Amino acid sequence: MSYAEFVGWGRYLPSLVVENKDLVRFVDTTDHWIKTRTGIKERRYSHVSTAEMGWLAAERALASADMLSNDLDLIILGSTTANEVCPNTASSIKNKLKAYSAAAIDLNSACTSWLYGVSMISDMIKAGSIETGMVIGSERLSLGLDWNKRESCCLFGDGAGAVILKKSHDERGVIAFRISCVPDSREFLAIPKWGIQPAIHTNDLHLSMNFDGAAIFKRAVKSMSFDCEFVLDRAGLSIEDIDVFIPHQANIRIINAVGSKLGIDPKKTVVTIDKYGNTSAASIPISLCEALKNDMIRGGETILIASFGAGLSCGAAVVKWGDSTKNIRDTAFSIPAYQGDVHNLLEDSFSYHGISYN
Ligand code: UT7
Repeated sequence: MSYAEFVGWGRYLPSLVVENKDLVRFVDTTDHWIKTRTGIKERRYSHVSTAEMGWLAAERALASADMLSNDLDLIILGSTTANEVCPNTASSIKNKLKAYSAAAIDLNSACTSWLYGVSMISDMIKAGSIETGMVIGSERLSLGLDWNKRESCCLFGDGAGAVILKKSHDERGVIAFRISCVPDSREFLAIPKWGIQPAIHTNDLHLSMNFDGAAIFKRAVKSMSFDCEFVLDRAGLSIEDIDVFIPHQANIRIINAVGSKLGIDPKKTVVTIDKYGNTSAASIPISLCEALKNDMIRGGETILIASFGAGLSCGAAVVKWGDSTKNIRDTAFSIPAYQGDVHNLLEDSFSYHGISYN
């Protein structure tokens, strides 16, 4: 019997930190509202592309696994904000990594893209069709936000995380997962002009997110809790067997509601939303790296992961962590820090949305 062990991980967080007090200068909101309704204090906005962020997270994952890019059979990029659709963006990361033997797939199920990708690669390794795969979650949502829509623009941040899964004979990696999609809920989170159909028929590419936060909130709590209970049952475990819980970071109130429905000790829950906001497909790998950095994962833990996003896609997984918990070697690669402020970075976006900056 084969398993797919997590042997490498890495992340990239953009250098520009945007606090709530910075947002108040161009969005009709308050620091108090954002903090109390979402748990977010600050987020990062990127000056480099989704591919560039994903590439650096990937280099760091390779370094932590002490592996060469040529060892990879498959790279999946989970993202809603791929630089390009054709050719796909995963292939540009593959080329920059010099991962000559790897196939490259873009996977978009919004915030759940990384978890969907991990589930697929894990089963491909177990089935014997590949031996080593990388799953990257990378998002540059700041480019797609409408600063007139305070209900959504305050929530999101940019960043990237990557993991490497490798064939193992020990019972490690994903031991149970469920991927799902809540029916009849597509309109609650949608960017209507983002696709070939509207571009061809209307020649209008004005991007603006349609967002019904309260409708998503209820469905997210219900479906994440259901999927978590499903995977625990499938793995033959109870919530007391879980050492670390890594939920998608969309709202601290959603995280707490799912946690209390499941009955998990809050001390076991990884929370990064205060620092990075909702980084969509990158949120779980970024949080996984945080848990490793903070010694919440030291080796041998049983980890519960839960995710949801536009679609409304949903999913959960139980992961048995192996021995790897420390970076084995560092990487020489880096991205120079952004030298300007949020106004410099978003100038074009502000003028596109008719925003004035105080
Ligand atoms: O990862 C997938 C994407 N993430 C999500 O879908 C997140 C899911 N939903 C949520 O996190 C929450 O529903 C929100 C944080 C988006 C909203 O929280 P809420 O408690 O559900 O607020 P609400 O939408 O019911 O709005 C309450 C009030 C409204 O004012 P009135 O109508 O009561 O006067 C909104 O206009 O809060 C107002 N509001 C704001 N006020 C200040 C909404 N956004 C803001 C804002 N600043 N940024």
